[in-house]
Amino acid sequence: MLKSLYVHFPYCKHLCNYCDFYKHKLTESSQIDTYLELMDVQVRELVKLNDFHGESFDLLDTLYIGGGTPSLLKPDKMKQLLDNFSKVGLSLNSNYEFTIEIDPGTFNLEELEAWKELGVNRFSLGVQAYNEKYLRLLDRRHDLSEVTLSLEYLSKTKSNFSVDLIIGTPESEARDLIQEIEQLSDFSPSHFSVYILSTRLNYPLKEKLPDEEKIRDDYLEVSRQLEKLGFHHYEVSNFAKTETMESVHNKKYWDYESVAAVGPNATGTICKPDKVFRYQWKSLSGGFQTEEVKGESLILEKLFLALRRSKSFNLQSILGMNISQQYLKTKVENWHQLGYVEPGSDLENLKITPLGFLMNDSMLGDLMDII
Ligand SMILES: C[S@@+](CC[C@H](N)C(=O)[O-])C[C@H]1O[C@@H](n2cnc3c(N)ncnc32)[C@H](O)[C@@H]1O
Ligand code: SF4
Repeated sequence: MLKSLYVHFPYCKHLCNYCDFYKHKLTESSQIDTYLELMDVQVRELVKLNDFHGESFDLLDTLYIGGGTPSLLKPDKMKQLLDNFSKVGLSLNSNYEFTIEIDPGTFNLEELEAWKELGVNRFSLGVQAYNEKYLRLLDRRHDLSEVTLSLEYLSKTKSNFSVDLIIGTPESEARDLIQEIEQLSDFSPSHFSVYILSTRLNYPLKEKLPDEEKIRDDYLEVSRQLEKLGFHHYEVSNFAKTETMESVHNKKYWDYESVAAVGPNATGTICKPDKVFRYQWKSLSGGFQTEEVKGESLILEKLFLALRRSKSFNLQSILGMNISQQYLKTKVENWHQLGYVEPGSDLENLKITPLGFLMNDSMLGDLMDII
């Protein structure tokens, strides 16, 4: 049974120069109506696709609307979207998590309350930098006072929210991340997501980007500071105040559970005990295109996800029992020495450290000759 749905909302008011996500500039309200019509078509097609794979929706544990900028989907339009979902039997169970991504400067207090009345119980606020200079360097549309106002709205309404931050920004040498985190934690977020800026070749501030060593130092410093403030570093980019405040939706991806998806460019997964399918909407054909994930790709994906989490895992069972135990023990011993895995870790119980999160590509590389 399918119990999680991701909805991609692809519009933004301004297109930030570092962003590689699929998005369009919102210039007129008719774009939203066209989008809602497309969602209606897609969700009906999705029911058929699930049926074809012998699957169906149960009441949802998690619903996640990501962007783009979903806070441009105003409460009346969000209601229309949810009403269309419920027409095909899609609704939330009694103990659900319903997250929407919101951008500072794109919503007010009343809208926040109205989204909550529609069932939203988790907000993900795209702060990126809590400093005017770095907001400008990041080409953000909002200024610091708008970020503060959004944080005040969330605090005042006692909302459950997560803060997104980007590190590894241009001119990082002068950035005081510790101060930003301390100031942000005063608004009582339940969660932080901290991403290292990734850029394309033609990124305009390429010359001003920090080197790898500075990025590593900042990442580890942020991890230590958040841990000090009581946030548990449970995935490469994610920190939660308590275990129950970890992202239930994202954990489904990391645990390799099915997550359905609609929206332009959203990817859904159907995980069966013996098979995994991935699908995406293709506007040209006006339908979902599906492919099976199998063999080496499947092992690589599972390994990639396991190496990004603090939860311990069994390396041998991901790689298969035919791989020599002695060979893997040597690799794990090497990772111990480099500080990538926690002391006491062994083959059946591998626990990655924050340094290991950062070096997970290199750990994956160490195993490429046997995958
Ligand atoms: C899908 S984006 C949309 C969120 C929202 N529109 C915003 O800008 O705050 C989700 C998150 O991905 C992160 N992100 C986007 N582009 C990134 C990049 N090039 N490098 C690292 N993180 C990025 C940001 O932290 C952002 O909040
Ligand atoms: S607002 Fe968010 S999704 Fe839109 S361009 Fe900026 S970073 Fe990307």
